[in-house]
Amino acid sequence: MRELSIGSSRIELVRGDITAQDTDAIVNAANTSLLGGGGVDGAIHRAGGPAILAECEQLGGCATGDAKITTGGRLTAKHVIHTVGPVYRDGRHGEPDLLASAYRRSLEVATANGLTTIAFPSISTGAYRFPIAAAARIATATVARALRAGSGITLVRFVLFSATDLAAYEQALADTAAGLQKEEKKR
Ligand code: APR
Repeated sequence: MRELSIGSSRIELVRGDITAQDTDAIVNAANTSLLGGGGVDGAIHRAGGPAILAECEQLGGCATGDAKITTGGRLTAKHVIHTVGPVYRDGRHGEPDLLASAYRRSLEVATANGLTTIAFPSISTGAYRFPIAAAARIATATVARALRAGSGITLVRFVLFSATDLAAYEQALADTAAGLQKEEKKR
């Protein structure tokens, strides 16, 4: 499954590069310093230019599980929402809740800034070593619940860098959809 409609909102999965997305905001997989890094972080700062870092330097960092917004600089997207996912240890040190919080807070920041479309990379599944299947389940379930609760967001796009990541998110989205249907039946 590569697309799920929830009310008037939609979740979609694509394979591609987060820096090329034309949504109102793209989400950065940042670290707590907000001063740049590799992976998604490096790609966004390279593509968006120095204006993004200049704003990040004024933000005083970002706690794990939180999210902060800056300009998108030279990116197509007008804004970058920087969020910090957890470093995965063993899944028993609050990592799942912190990962869910990173997605939830990113959506809250988008809504607070009047944005309606947002693109996420797969937070924490690179340098932070969160297992992709578990991370994909948390990501899709957290976003689906936030959209069902009503958030003003009309499109959430997950942008996966590899075919294996995309396959993991397809499975997770199908499981999330099945879970929502079960909950609907119980209501
Ligand atoms: N577009 C989309 N996805 C990408 C891109 C890209 N241009 N580049 C990498 N990815 C994918 C990776 O394959 C991985 O699945 O994004 C996922 C997250 O990987 P990381 O960027 O390593 O992010 P994360 O695991 O959250 O680690 C964050 O890495 O870059 C540093 O400063 C960053 O310290 C922070 C840490």
